[in-house]
Amino acid sequence: MISQGAIRVQPAARFLGPGGKARFSAEVTEAPDKTFFWSVRESGGGTISEQGEYTAPTAAGTYHVTATGRSDPSLKGEATVTVSSLLPKGIACNTSPRRPYLAWVSSQSAVIAWRCNPGGTVRWGLGEERSEALTDRTVQDQHFALLSDLTPETTYSYEVAIDGERFGPVATFTTAPAQGSETSFIAFADSGTGSVHQKRLAEVMKSRSFDFALIAGDVIYDKGADTEYDRGYFQPYAGLIDHLPFFPVPGNHDIVTDGGKPFKQNFYLPRGNFYYDFFWGETHVIGLDSNKVADLAQKRWLETALKAPARWKIVYFHHPAFSSAEYGDTPSVQSQWVPLFEQYGVDLVFNGHAHGYERTVPINGVTYVVTGGGGAALSGGAE
Ligand SMILES: [Fe+2]
Repeated sequence: MISQGAIRVQPAARFLGPGGKARFSAEVTEAPDKTFFWSVRESGGGTISEQGEYTAPTAAGTYHVTATGRSDPSLKGEATVTVSSLLPKGIACNTSPRRPYLAWVSSQSAVIAWRCNPGGTVRWGLGEERSEALTDRTVQDQHFALLSDLTPETTYSYEVAIDGERFGPVATFTTAPAQGSETSFIAFADSGTGSVHQKRLAEVMKSRSFDFALIAGDVIYDKGADTEYDRGYFQPYAGLIDHLPFFPVPGNHDIVTDGGKPFKQNFYLPRGNFYYDFFWGETHVIGLDSNKVADLAQKRWLETALKAPARWKIVYFHHPAFSSAEYGDTPSVQSQWVPLFEQYGVDLVFNGHAHGYERTVPINGVTYVVTGGGGAALSGGAE
C-alpha cells in the first residue's frame, strides 16, 4: 500500500503539573490511520488515546517524541520537544496552568484571570504599592478575580501569587476613561490558528499603542476546544493580554466544542452570554453572537443597548452583513440587525468570517468593515 499522508508531532502544552506530566499531541494529515504508537525517549512508551494525545510522566528537559501509525508503521512523525515548567518552584497546579491575563477592563473595574487548581491571591494597587488583595481558593481550574472601585484612566499594577509564590510577572493595566470621545483600538477576526501570520500580527500589535482589541470571531481554530486555546490565543498574545483588554465574540469555529463551553471558561463574559457591551469613554462597543442571529432575547438586548446615548457606536460580530467575498452577505443579519443599526445611528460594524479586508461606503449611515485577516489562511481558503 502506498501511504499518503503524514503525522506531525507537536507539543500540545509544555507544562509540568504536580506529578511532573507533559502532554504531546499528533496531527494527522491525509492519513487513513488515526491511532498511533507513541514513544518518548527517556521515559518509555505510553498509552494511546483516540485524540492522538499522549501524557507522559516526565521532568523538565528535552525529549524526542515519536508517533507511529498503528496499521501503517510507515507513517511516522517525530519531534524534539523541550518541556519546561511554567511554574515557579513551589507552585503546583492540578491542571494545565495559564499565567494571569487581563480578562476585562472598564472605567471602574478589571478582571484578572488565571488557571491553576487551586487558586491564589491577586494583589493590586497604584504604582508598585499593591495594597489591595483578593483571594480565590476555590478548587477549580479557572479563576476570574473582579477588581472593583477603581479610578477611571488610572494605571494599576497587579500580581497573582499561589501558595506565597508569584505566578507570572508583575503587570500593569489602565482603566478606561469615563469621558472623552477619543480612543484607539485594533479589530480583527479569524485569528486563532497559531500560524506564523497570527504571530507576526501579534508582534505588530506589540509595536503599536492602542487601548483595547476587538476579536470578531473564530478566535480558536479548529473546533474551539480547550486544548486549542494555548496555541490559538494564550501563546500568540502572551505579551499583550497581560496588560491590554481583548474583547472576543464567538465565530462558527468557537462553538463547535460543547456549543462554545471552552469560550465561556476562558473568557470573561460579564452577563454569561456570548453578547455584551462596554463603554470606553463616550464610545459604546457592542459585541454580538452572530451564530444566533434569530435569538430574540439577543435582539431585544441589542435594541435596549443601542438606545444608550454615546458619541460613537461600534458593533462587532462574526458573520458579515455585507461582503463580496466567497460567503457573500448574511441575509439574516441584514433583516434582523441592520435596521436597528440604522435606526439607532451605529457608526461602525466590524465582521470577519471572510478572510480578507473589505470596507463599505456608509450604507444608510453605517460603515461595515470585514477584517478577517487575523491569522488564518487568507481568502480563497476561507473558513
Ligand atoms: Fe468563520
